[in-house]
Amino acid sequence: MRTILAVIALCSAVAGAALAAEPSPELIAYGKALVEAGDCAGCHTADPAKPFAGGKRIDTPFGAIFAPNLTPDRDTGIGAWRDADFTRALRYGIAPDGSNYYPAFPYPYFTKMTKDDTLAIRAYLATLAPVASRNKPPELRWPFGYRGLMRLWNAMYFKPGLFEPDQSKSAAWNRGGYLVTGLGHCGACHTPKNYFGADRDAQALSGNEVGGWFAPRLDGAVRTGLKSWSEEDIAEYLQSGRNAKSHAGGPMAEVVVNSTAKMSDADVRAIAIYLKSLPSTRRETIVTPPDDAEMKAGQAVYAKLCIACHEADGSGAPRIYPPLPGNALLQSNNPSSTLRIILDGALTVTTPRAPNTGEMPGYAKQLSDDEIAAVTNYIRNSWGNAGLLVTPAQVARARKSQASGE
Ligand code: HEC
Ligand code: HEC
Ligand code: HEC
Repeated sequence: MRTILAVIALCSAVAGAALAAEPSPELIAYGKALVEAGDCAGCHTADPAKPFAGGKRIDTPFGAIFAPNLTPDRDTGIGAWRDADFTRALRYGIAPDGSNYYPAFPYPYFTKMTKDDTLAIRAYLATLAPVASRNKPPELRWPFGYRGLMRLWNAMYFKPGLFEPDQSKSAAWNRGGYLVTGLGHCGACHTPKNYFGADRDAQALSGNEVGGWFAPRLDGAVRTGLKSWSEEDIAEYLQSGRNAKSHAGGPMAEVVVNSTAKMSDADVRAIAIYLKSLPSTRRETIVTPPDDAEMKAGQAVYAKLCIACHEADGSGAPRIYPPLPGNALLQSNNPSSTLRIILDGALTVTTPRAPNTGEMPGYAKQLSDDEIAAVTNYIRNSWGNAGLLVTPAQVARARKSQASGE
């Protein structure tokens, strides 16, 4: 009898503890918002019918890695993980078996996250439907297939540690810094990388090429950075995917749809405040304008094919046809995003705040490498713009990367 009572007491104590540990709806909702701010789905969802079940191929300069299954399936997902395993994976890039992850998983940014935030994320992920889907091994070039190398990489380049608030700055600035440098991992695309794929910290957010696109400068550079954007402009771009200055295309359109369009007004405003505080980390290149023959050739193409939408003076129609004068992305040293859009065309991304779409035709078939180079040079160097000369060989390379889908 006494044993039975003891067992009952024990059981109810365990049940009580389990109940107390049951995450609240508020915690789960908070975790969901963090998962959106970190764009976990952008990599971990390959098939929209199986959210977070992994399998998506992530191409890196060192080969391909497949994002793993984050659903609570105990065999193939992370259902059997302890909370501590989860926090360690996110904050230190170390797997439960002690092996190292590759930094294609943005743990070098997620390390800035508090333990509580990682646990809120875990609480949300635990509410997902478990999906049985086995993780695929990476396909990396020798010698990168050897995970042990990542210990060396971490020793050289990984700086673990929480985001350190700057007490002299506002709460909004600090929130923005936490999102940009931590959870939002903006630098994964916007910060130049060294030979080993690590961020060049001294040039943080000063622009970088990703998958055939150029993620432009987010610092205070005048011509090619965000100097001419107001906080309002940045917030609108992040929430709507466009503003009166530019439209989000390529990988940024995905970031907007999965992540920044879902952020609260306060969070996008915080990001804008933080970005507007960044000085220009690198001097902008002084540009020699193209010669008259090149400008004439470019103008002929522009007058024939582009003015119907972009107007002779490049002014376009804000939020429908992005204006070309003063356009920072267009004047960037690296023309990849501009070449992508002229070659492939684009469908304007839609978001709840900006539901109407628009279309830019692609000119890959119609125009030669010389013509595309000329029109690109023309729009990069008209109406007060200045952009480095683009060569037909660069256009040819951009065409190839389109063909291989890189
Ligand atoms: C840019 C793509 C990318 C984003 C964004 C991303 N991950 Fe991942 N994640 C990966 C890749 C790739 C791996 C596997 C790394 C490896 O195999 O070394 C990974 C691994 C993981 C693992 C280890 C899983 C296992 O089975 O070992 C966890 C946990 C994880 N990610 C959680 C998250 C969470 C939570 C977020 C959002 C806050 C997130 N990831 C955002 C690419 C990403
Ligand atoms: C997956 C890569 C990727 C990530 C992550 C990313 N960006 Fe971008 N971003 C880009 C690319 C590429 C462009 C250029 C878009 C285009 O071609 O239209 C861009 C453009 C932008 C622009 C427009 C700048 C201009 O001058 O037109 C802003 C602002 C921006 N990103 C902010 C952010 C912020 C803030 C974050 C983090 C929350 C972020 N991005 C994360 C790839 C990325
Ligand atoms: C039928 C209308 C139309 C025509 C013709 C057109 N465009 Fe566009 N263009 C657009 C639209 C719409 C966008 C925005 C696409 C998006 O939202 O990603 C755009 C975007 C652009 C951008 C990117 C600007 C930014 O900040 O996002 C450039 C550069 C550009 N066009 C150049 C050209 C050139 C050069 C030509 C002629 C060879 C041309 N366009 C012809 C409609 C047009």
